[in-house]
Amino acid sequence: MDTVETPAAIVDLARVRRNLEATVAYTRAHGLGWRPHVKTHKSPDLARMQMDAGASGLTVATPREAEVMAPVTPDLLLAHPPVPPKTERLMRLPPGVRLTVALDDEALLAPLARAAAEAGRTVGVLVELDVGMGRVGLAGPPEVVALARRISAAGPDLEWRGLLFYPGHIRVTAGEQAPLLAGVASRLDAVLEALQRAGLAPAVVSGGSTPTLFQSHLIPGLTEIRPGTSIFHDRDSVALGAATLDDVAYTVLATVVSTAVPGHAVVDAGSKALAREEFRAVPGQGGFGILLDRPEVRVISVSEEHGVLDLAGTSWRPRVGDRVRIVPNHVCVSVNLQDRLLTFDPGDGATGKSLGELPLSGRGRLAVQGPEVC
Ligand SMILES: Cc1ncc(COP(=O)(O)O)c(C=O)c1O
Repeated sequence: MDTVETPAAIVDLARVRRNLEATVAYTRAHGLGWRPHVKTHKSPDLARMQMDAGASGLTVATPREAEVMAPVTPDLLLAHPPVPPKTERLMRLPPGVRLTVALDDEALLAPLARAAAEAGRTVGVLVELDVGMGRVGLAGPPEVVALARRISAAGPDLEWRGLLFYPGHIRVTAGEQAPLLAGVASRLDAVLEALQRAGLAPAVVSGGSTPTLFQSHLIPGLTEIRPGTSIFHDRDSVALGAATLDDVAYTVLATVVSTAVPGHAVVDAGSKALAREEFRAVPGQGGFGILLDRPEVRVISVSEEHGVLDLAGTSWRPRVGDRVRIVPNHVCVSVNLQDRLLTFDPGDGATGKSLGELPLSGRGRLAVQGPEVC
């Protein structure tokens, strides 16, 4: 790490393994399926680790992620509305892929059924339910039952499979989540009851997020969870109590490039490495990241290639050339800014602490051409 050019994204594989094991242990204890969201890491290698650890399939957000992950598992869920021309592109996934999509609008059914028929494949369909985030998803039982009926009547190329929701509005600590989770549970329960009465009981109820990961059992009826961030965690995760700093597996390695301005040290990781993502977990704390080894030191402002460390709360006085590891506010958007991930494995006696490299094949929008991802 002393010789790597910075800024560089560094992944601690021992922590990744620990994070995966914690999720597996929890889901097994509660009889839940685990379908991690790959939008966080965009790496087929890390997705393979997740499948080997016990994931039942993968969640993707984009056609490219689906294409890149198809060689990793045949069981893919697109947790994003399949709107043409994405629909046609998705139908070009390898024939062995069992694709499920989530949607909240019947206008998407006809193009989806047509594309599926032309491609000779059956596509599973989940109805997206809004459980409080107010982003996408139908509001309640009548709308969900109506759409579920349309799906099950849409012909042999679409298969009604169930429900999907994302509790992205729950961004408080586990101890404060109970009333919010009860709200989710009661919305879901009303929909499940209505579907049952309509003879449309869902085979799948897919939910989950990183802040609520270990509280998922408080939502009766859930069959699987789709955490993404929890493979790495980030400053948000730690602030929300979903992880400790010891669990954070992804950091941006940066070099101090200036200490000329009193009270500050400037590093070479700015918004193009950390992202300019707001820190919302704790009001008044702001900034764009903290140092892994000195969490009292925050990145208080960023330009594209500069990050300003605030030294007000520390006696530490870095010098130009010193290196730091920064925990970004939101890891998924930081990963998306990188060309590759550098990995190290403190637990691997054979290779010591040498750096490995993982391509981020799922980044970008372009279609994957044949063996590019293998
Ligand atoms: C639809 C959907 N499912 C799952 C996730 C994963 O959530 P988290 O990043 O909290 O792990 C996200 C995150 O944005 C999402 O949008």
